[in-house]
Amino acid sequence: MTTPDFPELPAGFRFGAATAAYQIEGAHDQDGRGPSIWDTFSHTPGRTLDGATGDTACDHYHRHPQDVALMRGLGVDSYRFSIAWPRLLPRGTGPANPKGLDFYDRLIDDLPAAGVAPAVTLYHWDLPQTLEDRGGWRVRETAEAFAQYAALAVERYGDRVERWITLNGPYCSAFAGYAEGRHAPGAQKGRGALAAAHHLLVAHGLAVRELRAAGAREVGIALNLDRIHTASALPGDRAALRRAEVLHNEVWTEPLLAGRYPAHEAGTWAGLADGPWRLPGDLELIGAPLDFLGVNFYRPITVAAAPHRTDDLELRTATDIGVRELDPYGTRLTTMGWPVVPEALTELLRALHARYPRLPPVWITENGSAEADAVGPDGRVHDTARTDYLADHLAAVAEAVSAGVDVRGYYVWSLLDNFEWARGYGQRFGLVHVDYDTLTRTPKDSYHWFRALITAHRARTEETTR
Ligand code: FCB
Repeated sequence: MTTPDFPELPAGFRFGAATAAYQIEGAHDQDGRGPSIWDTFSHTPGRTLDGATGDTACDHYHRHPQDVALMRGLGVDSYRFSIAWPRLLPRGTGPANPKGLDFYDRLIDDLPAAGVAPAVTLYHWDLPQTLEDRGGWRVRETAEAFAQYAALAVERYGDRVERWITLNGPYCSAFAGYAEGRHAPGAQKGRGALAAAHHLLVAHGLAVRELRAAGAREVGIALNLDRIHTASALPGDRAALRRAEVLHNEVWTEPLLAGRYPAHEAGTWAGLADGPWRLPGDLELIGAPLDFLGVNFYRPITVAAAPHRTDDLELRTATDIGVRELDPYGTRLTTMGWPVVPEALTELLRALHARYPRLPPVWITENGSAEADAVGPDGRVHDTARTDYLADHLAAVAEAVSAGVDVRGYYVWSLLDNFEWARGYGQRFGLVHVDYDTLTRTPKDSYHWFRALITAHRARTEETTR
């Protein structure tokens, strides 16, 4: 097997690795942490693969010094992790939990000492259960509670955090959580999902205000954006493509980057988005300038028209809006069943750049692949498919940069194998293998490759900038 060439990225381009609290921390009931919607969901029979929970996960809560040492060894510039809201505020609002505050203090102190800049995601899907009990993202009070939590976090950590990400992948929080039901809290009521989408955007806007007021360094949001194709040029399929683009991307990008709500066909579900939850002034709040846009990218999707009832506007799944996702064909699939099409990332970045004159600098906040990794008899993990995936996607980023898109950095998803939400522990995304029986960490070949890439990048760009 040959090692792929290192893609050439500009001087100053940064490399990182990403994780999320519920996926790695474990210690779900220790030191005063309150329950989150993912604790409730994962403990509900039938919700996750084999009933997997994040109770222990990678036990990062206790093993973080080892994980920081792994990052030092990897040589990354930045570590993107999330704070568990219910660890800081066990009931979502009210008194802070001193032990929770101390945990992230230690992490945020240890990272710079290892040469790694902290990048904090405030919300990576683990809503305090108490807030869900009061309506969750369906109600505006949750957005207000989020702003208070953001203020607490920035007051405590703002002096040391380089980059703040308000929300991660709000598509999943709203639509996977409240319409499809495959994510916590597992609800299936379409109007709830549309209200949730709006309140998540309001939460972002309110948090940006708090972060700015406290002098936060860089402020942005991470969106799961999809490059979407149709199977044909038939008018029905093209209309389905538009509906899918609104649902997956424009619900977020239009208000955030263009100060407007997405255009939609009258009489379709998107009309419901004009619901009573929209208040005067919300667009200005949501559309406040950002220092960067985080893009999480894994795969393109292909859609076709599906029959749907226009008299039933209750959104549950994409099928309810007449969109059918087609099975991928003709490309390699990761163990998630996701097609590997790196040029779709270039296309996505170029399309964002073309559509939004106000597009801020972009960071790829997540990209990576799940593979069937195992520690071999030689004690190593030969994950060639992952190295190829990363090399090809970094080359796709380099291509977008050559086409004029201002991309500043790239985080691999993920530092560690971890709890892949409803898919449990079956999907391994890490640069580092985790044995879930012993919690032993084994850097995979892709870890060594990524380290070599970072070293080569620094050597090359230092030479050219001298
Ligand atoms: C993203 C999530 C991340 C991980 C990857 C595979 O959408 O943000 O937590 O689950 O998918």
